[in-house]
Amino acid sequence: MPQHVVVVGAGVIGLSCAILLQDAGYAVTIVARDFPRPFETMDPIADINYTSAWGGAHNRWVPPHANSPPSVHREHAMSLRTFAHMKALHAAAPATAGITFLPGIEYLEAPGPEYLALSAAPSTNPNPLSLPGFRLLPPSAFPPDGRVTWACTYDTWCVNPMVYAAFLLRRLALRGARLIHRDLRSPAEAFTLSPPPAAVVNASGTGLVPDPAAATVTRGQTCLVAEGCAATVTRQNADGSWVFCVPRGFDGGTVIGGTKERGDWRAAPDAAVRARMLDGFVATYPGILAPGRPRLTVVRDIVGRRPTRDGGPRVEGEVLDGAGFVMHAYGLGGRGYELSWGVAEAVVEGVGSALGRGGAKL
Ligand SMILES: Cc1cc2nc3c(=O)[nH]c(=O)nc-3n(C[C@H](O)[C@H](O)[C@H](O)COP(=O)(O)OP(=O)(O)OC[C@H]3O[C@@H](n4cnc5c(N)ncnc54)[C@H](O)[C@@H]3O)c2cc1C
Ligand SMILES: *[C@@H]1O[C@H](CO)[C@@H](O)[C@H](O)[C@H]1NC(C)=O
Ligand SMILES: *[C@@H]1O[C@H](CO)[C@@H](O)[C@H](O)[C@H]1NC(C)=O
Repeated sequence: MPQHVVVVGAGVIGLSCAILLQDAGYAVTIVARDFPRPFETMDPIADINYTSAWGGAHNRWVPPHANSPPSVHREHAMSLRTFAHMKALHAAAPATAGITFLPGIEYLEAPGPEYLALSAAPSTNPNPLSLPGFRLLPPSAFPPDGRVTWACTYDTWCVNPMVYAAFLLRRLALRGARLIHRDLRSPAEAFTLSPPPAAVVNASGTGLVPDPAAATVTRGQTCLVAEGCAATVTRQNADGSWVFCVPRGFDGGTVIGGTKERGDWRAAPDAAVRARMLDGFVATYPGILAPGRPRLTVVRDIVGRRPTRDGGPRVEGEVLDGAGFVMHAYGLGGRGYELSWGVAEAVVEGVGSALGRGGAKL
């Protein structure tokens, strides 16, 4: 009999972990308060804590540098693993997975050392981080306002979050996963399910208390517009603000963003912020406007809560007294999609070594 693993959470992290646990031969049950469903039916108040619905979601490389903390290097490795999985899923199911491959463009007004190191790379190794398709952009390709001083492009992916999450969920169900729609009061409750689980994965996002380091969120306000866009574009301004676009693909329009407000729990969107984001993005990348249209077509405002944790994501095992082995996978902040498959690989490895499998197939 395969060993039974319970995954708490059906956001991008729980779903990805569940898929790789199935691949490794475990029988998987997912318990969650929220499951993927069409984005169009998501309620801005009732569903606000289900972060995966509100993400962009694109992959934007965060270049590690000699002076970056180890977490940045670890996350970069996870984002490269995620890229490889996304490529394979897209190749296997281009019409249904909800994944789009497209150019990423980065514009910076005041690039930090991690970006300058990329442009200073020797000609013998012009792409030291092995970023797929990486290339510097010349000043002739900068935005018209003249404030950007550094730009690059690379190959990347975007997902339409709920199309992608529903694809993962269908795949899990077809391969025999059990799905339980329930609000748990404690992680220990997951061990009371039958058959008794050999391990529990805690992928509850901002969910199950108590981790004092995980007590906060980083608010993000964005705006969904009806236009498509041929690239996912990010601009970092000298004052620390950002504008970006994430084309969702699959008839999902484009997300224009966005804010990063730590510790801000306000659920209501701010109209002035929306206007600033839309104007700022069109000024940066006028090519998003449809010919003959003066402005973007607003579909809805979005406010989400990135599950933020001091010290970064928590991806590690723990033995809970009187319950059993829990593998934590939460606190992914603004990078849950980007890092999802790297996290899932680490979770399978952690569960395997806790259960004495050393990575071997059942
Ligand atoms: C505006 C915005 C833009 C973003 N853009 C990007 C982007 O471009 N790229 C990127 O990689 N990331 C992006 N993110 C971040 C990304 O959305 C998150 O990192 C990711 O969704 C977190 O996923 P998760 O599975 O950890 O949490 P969630 O999606 O919140 O899932 C948590 C799951 O746990 C369940 N749960 C919680 N508590 C309980 C309980 N007590 N009992 C049962 N179930 C429970 C929930 O129901 C849910 O199923 C963005 C976020 C925001 C807000
Ligand atoms: C979202 O989470 C916060 C913090 O745990 C909680 O206070 C709030 O009631 C939750 N919202 C919903 C709609 O469940
Ligand atoms: C499970 O994850 C949540 C974050 O959603 C965290 O607050 C909590 O401490 C974790 N559970 C345990 C038992 O550590």
